[in-house]
Amino acid sequence: MTKKAELHYDGKVYELPVITGTENENAIDISRLRADTGLITLDKGFKNTGSTQSSITFLNGEEGILRYRGYSIEDLAENASFLEVAFLLIYGNLPSKLELDFFVEDITQHSLVHEDVKSILDGFPSKAHPMGVLSSLVSSLTAFYPKSLDPNRSKEEVNGTIIRAIAKLPTLAAWSYKNRMRQPIMYPKNELSYTANFMHMMFGLPTTEKKVSPVVSKAIDKLLILHADHEQNCSASTVRIVGSSHASLYASVSAGIAALWGPLHGGANQAVIEMLEKIKNDGGNVDKYVEKAKDKKDSFRLMGFGHRVYKNFDPRATIIKKAADDVLNELGINDPVLDIAKKLENVALNDDYFKYRGLYPNVDFYSGIIYRALGIPTDMFTVMFALGRLPGWIAQWKEMRENKEPIGRPRQVYTGAKEREYVPINNR
Ligand code: CMC
Repeated sequence: MTKKAELHYDGKVYELPVITGTENENAIDISRLRADTGLITLDKGFKNTGSTQSSITFLNGEEGILRYRGYSIEDLAENASFLEVAFLLIYGNLPSKLELDFFVEDITQHSLVHEDVKSILDGFPSKAHPMGVLSSLVSSLTAFYPKSLDPNRSKEEVNGTIIRAIAKLPTLAAWSYKNRMRQPIMYPKNELSYTANFMHMMFGLPTTEKKVSPVVSKAIDKLLILHADHEQNCSASTVRIVGSSHASLYASVSAGIAALWGPLHGGANQAVIEMLEKIKNDGGNVDKYVEKAKDKKDSFRLMGFGHRVYKNFDPRATIIKKAADDVLNELGINDPVLDIAKKLENVALNDDYFKYRGLYPNVDFYSGIIYRALGIPTDMFTVMFALGRLPGWIAQWKEMRENKEPIGRPRQVYTGAKEREYVPINNR
């Protein structure tokens, strides 16, 4: 039997259908609300608003569950490779061996970018934040692949655009780092894996002779998998809404990168390390900063703590915490900033303010620690997040296009001036 909700308004009763998802999540369907009642809903930050029906990622924040296409994040992080997970997210099922081989080969063959991209890169000052550079370079792909501007082209052509995005992002990301360092760019090497190729373009490592340690390589792959999708978050919603105007995949992903950049979203991984450095340089008094975070008059927040949907624990953080320990042991790293991270975690987890509000360390609290241990500069951390999130953005964009979703266009409650007459400048 279909469930219904009732709305009592202005002496009338309206019945609203309730939609139930495969995991029994219920949503009131208000698509006829304005037409039938003249009302709209108001939900700043979309805290209670479902913007779409999606079959990509399931997330239960209360129980700390995260699944891509039905597979648990724990299972995928332990057993799958990043490109396997990318295939799963984008095409809906795990690839066969042959499908994965083709997918990987296709991506490998498209990792070079047009030589003219170098002149765009040269135009950026060395101080440019790599996220800004990356967003611009991804948008510039529309110039090199003008056919990608039309998302209504054949399935094969759209797929070519998708493959190019996955293939070229590591190259563009590494080049944005090289610009930051004012070092010569490195070209991709086809004989290397996706992750190893990225490390090679960043650091000139690993060569075929000098391999990166399996623990480190697995940790990077895990990080990318854990970041690969997270249903309707700020950047995924941005990608969907930009794409809903029939903008190209590259333009939509470029907007997603910009949304990810902010410190309340992906930029938190950079902000965490900056915060830990600040606490260290201020004498390492963790309690002082916990008190600041609790003080409502102080704008300071504990970066890497809290989440819109996880109010119990972030399942990604549990996995990444273990990977961080493995990497630090493997590399024999002893970093005072990490001691501060551990103290902070301990104090906050036992403090009533954080417990009451369900504020726990999120994925960004630990990911920054691994990136730092690997020698990745702080302002590249969010670029690493973008690399991981790309398959999710693509899957969200593709699903939105295939479902023929209408243009995203919220409404508002206007609170400005009533109609008034224009006053000529000399009479004001
Ligand atoms: N430090 C101190 N207090 C906090 C924090 C924090 N990090 N996060 C939330 N609160 C408090 C907040 O002040 C509010 O208190 P009260 O109920 O007394 O007004 C309560 O907890 C609820 O917070 P909110 O801001 O209403 O929650 P939100 O769902 O709008 O924001 C958030 C979620 C992630 C933006 C927020 O927790 C935050 O700013 N965290 C720090 C930034 C961060 O780590 N972001 C990365 C998120 S994980 C990566 C990703 O998926 O994007």
